[in-house]
Formats: sequence, C-alpha cells, structure tokens
Amino acid sequence: MDRVALVTGGGSGIGRQICLALAAQGRKVAAADLNASGAAETAAQIAAAGGMAIGLGVDVTSLDSIQQGHLQVLDELGPVEILVNCAGWDVLMPFLDTDEDFWDKVIDINYKGVLRTVHTCLPSMIDAGWGRIVNIGSDAARVGSSLEAVYSGAKGGVISFSKTIAREVARKGVTSNVVCPGPTDTPLLDGIIQASADGERVIGAMARAVPMKRVGQPQEVASAVAYLASEEAGFITGQTLSVSGGLTMS
Ligand SMILES: NC(=O)c1ccc[n+]([C@@H]2O[C@H](COP(=O)([O-])OP(=O)(O)OC[C@H]3O[C@@H](n4cnc5c(N)ncnc54)[C@H](O)[C@@H]3O)[C@@H](O)[C@H]2O)c1
Repeated sequence: MDRVALVTGGGSGIGRQICLALAAQGRKVAAADLNASGAAETAAQIAAAGGMAIGLGVDVTSLDSIQQGHLQVLDELGPVEILVNCAGWDVLMPFLDTDEDFWDKVIDINYKGVLRTVHTCLPSMIDAGWGRIVNIGSDAARVGSSLEAVYSGAKGGVISFSKTIAREVARKGVTSNVVCPGPTDTPLLDGIIQASADGERVIGAMARAVPMKRVGQPQEVASAVAYLASEEAGFITGQTLSVSGGLTMS
C-alpha cells in the first residue's frame, strides 16, 4: 500500500537505505535530516527509481523543526503512518573524558529526538487506527560498548521507551519496535574511526566480536525495518531485533 513514511536520518547511511527499502514496497517517503541536501539526494534516488518521495531539512533536537517538517509531509504526502527514527550521533570517548555538554548533545539527538517525533506523529496514527513506529537502537545498548557509555545509555532509553509506547497503544492498531544494528558500514562508523586516536583498533575489535566476523551493511538493517513497518508485522510489538551477525543473541 502507498502509506506515508517519515524517516529521520534519511539523508545518509542506514536511514537512506531504509527510505529506499520502504519506497521499494510502494511507500511514499519523507526523508528528514539535519543534512537537507542528503535528504534531497535520497528523495531524488527514490524518484529516479519511479517512487514518490520528498526530502526535508529537519533537526530532531528542535520540536518546532519536527512540527514544521510534519506539517510539510501532511501537506505534500498525507498523514504519517510509518515513523522510523534513525537520526543518530556519537563520538567515541572514555566516559571520564566526556562532559555535561557532550552528554546533553548525545541524549538530545539519540533519545529526546525520538520522544519529539513520536509525540508529534502518534496522534494521527491513533486516529487512523493504524501505525508503525520503528526506532533504531544499537547493540551498544544491549551488550554495552566501550567508549560509548552515554550513547549506549541513550539507546537503552530508546528500547525502554519503545516498549512502553507499544503497551500504551497496543489496542490502537499501532506497533512500536526497535531494530538494533551492530557495527555497520556507514559514514557514522567512518567518522568514529577518523575522530578517535585508536578508532581503527576499536572498530577491528568490534568486528572480531561479531560471530560472523564482519560489520553489517546498511541494506541489511533496512530490510528488517521494512518488515517491521509492513502490514504483515501487525502482531509484532514491543520487540527489539538485532541485525548484527549474532553479536547479540536473546
Ligand atoms: N553505523 C553503525 O555502526 C551503527 C551501529 C548501531 C546503531 N547505529 C544507529 O543507526 C542510525 C543511523 O546511523 P548511520 O550509521 O547510518 O549514521 P549516518 O551518520 O550515516 O546517519 C545519521 C544521520 O543522522 C543525521 N542527524 C544527526 N543529527 C541529527 C539531527 N539533530 N536532526 C536530524 N538528523 C540528524 C545525520 O545528518 C545523518 O544523516 C543512528 O541512530 C545510529 O546511532 C549505527
């Protein structure tokens, strides 16, 4: 069905692949990203493949920015029925080297960004009696990840929040689930390697910890998201699905 999907972080990496996967299912896609040109490029790739999409410049740390973007989606595509929260950010650092400004930024993007979009998009899903929320967590939240203490905590918050929303709207036709990537080959991972003195060593250790002994590809995460956003996944809610080559098993 040509339902409307809003994907934050849709201008790069995993978020772009999620937009492409949803468009391939016939969804109308709004790619929303702080990087407006990246979002526009995602929309252009979907249009070139025959789909319908718009790119939006949206900052998930601003409720006003999200509400403006939401109105634009409503106007140009229709009410949001699928919400995917994929915007994320981190820098690898020992916890004792971080300060409160850094904590605030990590929590504002990775945790409060999800609260803002769900708060904005959930009412129309409840009114319609149908909705899919898929939040991108991280295996860092499930098994811990050295040098990512604050980010891991924020992503853990995303998992707990998603379960509670799943309970609150369980009888409204709306599902809420989390997909947790393991280390995945994206610009975020590249940036972490570049920004850290021993980034290569840390990423190498991450890949060795994966039973399949490799990092993931963004398309592999996207296909799991597309499934959880589908009509067929209507009886799945409150779940946390790792796409990480076996890094987390539970
Ligand atoms: N790549 C990995 O190894 C990995 C592992 C686990 C989880 N994740 C998660 O997957 C998601 C996607 O990450 P990615 O690897 O594709 O990274 P990426 O950097 O390629 O994409 C993240 C996108 O989020 C956007 N973004 C950042 N701050 C924003 C803001 N304030 N408002 C709107 N957009 C903002 C960026 O502009 C970027 O386009 C993130 O939530 C990340 O935490 C990634």
